[in-house]
Amino acid sequence: MTSGANRPSGVPFLDLGSVNNGLREEFDLAWKTVLDHGHFVGGPEVERFEREFATYCGTKACIGVANGTDALELILRGLRIGRGDEVIVPTNTFIATAEAVCATGARPRFVDVCPDTLLIDPGATAAAINSSTAAIIAVHLYGQMVDPEPISAIAAAHGLALIEDAAQAHGAQHQGRRAGSVGIAAGFSFYPGKNLGALGDGGAVVTSDLALADRIRSIANHGRAAADRYLHDLAGRNSRLDTLQAALLSTKLPWLDAGNARRAAAMAAYRMMLPQRCTPVSVQPGAEPAYHLAIIQVEDRPEISDALTAAGIGWGVHYPIPCHQQPALATLHERASIAQKPIAQKLPVAERAASRILSLPMSPVLTIEQVARVCDVLGGALS
Ligand SMILES: Cc1ncc(COP(=O)(O)O)c(C=O)c1O
Repeated sequence: MTSGANRPSGVPFLDLGSVNNGLREEFDLAWKTVLDHGHFVGGPEVERFEREFATYCGTKACIGVANGTDALELILRGLRIGRGDEVIVPTNTFIATAEAVCATGARPRFVDVCPDTLLIDPGATAAAINSSTAAIIAVHLYGQMVDPEPISAIAAAHGLALIEDAAQAHGAQHQGRRAGSVGIAAGFSFYPGKNLGALGDGGAVVTSDLALADRIRSIANHGRAAADRYLHDLAGRNSRLDTLQAALLSTKLPWLDAGNARRAAAMAAYRMMLPQRCTPVSVQPGAEPAYHLAIIQVEDRPEISDALTAAGIGWGVHYPIPCHQQPALATLHERASIAQKPIAQKLPVAERAASRILSLPMSPVLTIEQVARVCDVLGGALS
């Protein structure tokens, strides 16, 4: 949920025009190159981007796919997770994480989050494991990585696959480890508003398990055998990153770290200037978030968001309804013929946070003056 407020004196939540404007000439060149060689699906640009992004994440392989939801579903399918399995998912995430699990026929098992970071709670994760549990999806939400140590230890102790949902964490690090390099595989989204955003839909799986990479590449391309394009030895589907998006992503990738550094500077300014009653989400020791979103927790969200809207300042809520309370969940279960109904459960930390969280403007082109303006309006609303 976002308000798109954008007046001359206001501050947009995210101004994608300005984010992309600086690379206009490179984009034109990329488009011309693709048009000239005439490969619109696959081709050298996809291979190049896959190589570059795997290197960036510190993994051995990358498979470009159609979007971030597919990336997660394909990882699960590649790991042969499906009907009869449970996959642990933090309830505070975008619904796509749960959709991907349901799409395989596996059942999402929602767990609560930590009150300070709003990321998956390792204790709740351990408590939710049972004989059907096959995997844990650690969602690096808002740009901050889930601390790799405790969650990896839990997965290893129970023989579970640890999958990263890194859709909001391109370039995030934790004690020198990059998002995407911690679990058996990670899913990324290149939706335009992401830290590395395409000019359309796109996604990727990264992994250092080369057999898994081969399986995922095949499933994402109609289950084709590597050596024979009309032998379909796996049950597949079509989920490919198209050539033009790959070319544009290669153009943008060298700027990702600089963009993340500007996001970090904006967040540091927020921390200095925010009024006391606006509490930013905590950063764990050792974490270097990519600050996809600037999240604060407040008591009086309706009044504060009204004041932001009145001042022409864009804002959002990520997310107002935790996954375990989403009405679509029952239908997702039914459609996938998941034997059990969704569990009616109380996950108090996420439920409380859902009514208090507020996303402030954040992007690599947000200026410190704009941050100051947002903080002024927040200060006025709370005085
Ligand atoms: C945490 C998370 N997971 C998965 C996705 C799904 O990505 P896509 O929209 O590319 O399918 C998103 C995208 O918004 C996301 O934020």
